[in-house]
Amino acid sequence: MESLKGRDLLSIADLSATEIKSLLGLAANLKSGSIELRCPRKVLGLLFQKASTRTRVSFSAAMYQLGGQVIDLNASVTQISRGEPTIDTARVLDRYLDVLAIRTFEQTELAKFAQYADIPVINALTDLEHPCQILADLLTIQENFDDLAGLTLTYLGDGNNVAHSLMLGCALVGMNVIVATPIGYQPDESVTQQAKAIAGDRSQVLVTQDAEAAVAKAQVLYTDVWASMGQEDSADARIPLFQAYQINSHLIKQADPNAIVLHCLPAHRGEEITEEVIEGSQSRIWDQAENRLHAQKALLAALLGGV
Ligand code: CP
Ligand code: NVA
Repeated sequence: MESLKGRDLLSIADLSATEIKSLLGLAANLKSGSIELRCPRKVLGLLFQKASTRTRVSFSAAMYQLGGQVIDLNASVTQISRGEPTIDTARVLDRYLDVLAIRTFEQTELAKFAQYADIPVINALTDLEHPCQILADLLTIQENFDDLAGLTLTYLGDGNNVAHSLMLGCALVGMNVIVATPIGYQPDESVTQQAKAIAGDRSQVLVTQDAEAAVAKAQVLYTDVWASMGQEDSADARIPLFQAYQINSHLIKQADPNAIVLHCLPAHRGEEITEEVIEGSQSRIWDQAENRLHAQKALLAALLGGV
């Protein structure tokens, strides 16, 4: 996949539909073991300013399995914590690393790293987007349905990072995407407009407050925590506002009988999703978590020119 060599992934919309499909195909082949890729001596830096289990470990495992090395750059043990400017850190890390995955708050901070470092910079979650998650999500959906195009994914909950990347990613692959949120928690209008422009007349992008109507035709139900990292102070206040958007056994009965349930994790059982649904027969949440590894291995190999 020569086209991805040396590129940044700051938004899922940095990829074309063809590139997403190629990455998913590569990830599926890596998962089945039908191909093996190598990026020996390449070094991945993980610069994380928020907690992470899946992203940190799946990126690390992927890089090791490709034959490379990982440096875990917890921001608190670097000079970033003492105020070293981003533009200096970016230029220095560029001299040591081959690829850098960053988890931070502001998308502008991530963009600054990408501007000042020539190596590929990967968005490992910002307040605006979570593109690596969506690659794994699309791989999971592809494993369960023949064709992505024409499927409907309904996202219930807060219209922030994961919802944004889902809207853009689904639109790119020709899926319909419905986002149901309480008033005041809708996706950014600019992301909604961007997703609609990508979808054109091929598929639908809809934002609504009506959770029951939103799930009616869905083959994929998706949720995320009601209070994201950095929003802990408003967590209790959000619970009553978001209650109608909980994925529970009543709600999934309104969806397509073959619908699958996804959650990026970590989950708050009893809030955005019930124990019964998370552990139920329609849940594909553990496959989805596993697919972070395969999708990111494909991504790393493509960005490093190992494909
Ligand atoms: N879904 C996800 O990104 O999980 P982590 O926060 O554990 O990395
Ligand atoms: N929206 C969540 C996703 C965690 C993977 C957060 O930003 O905390």
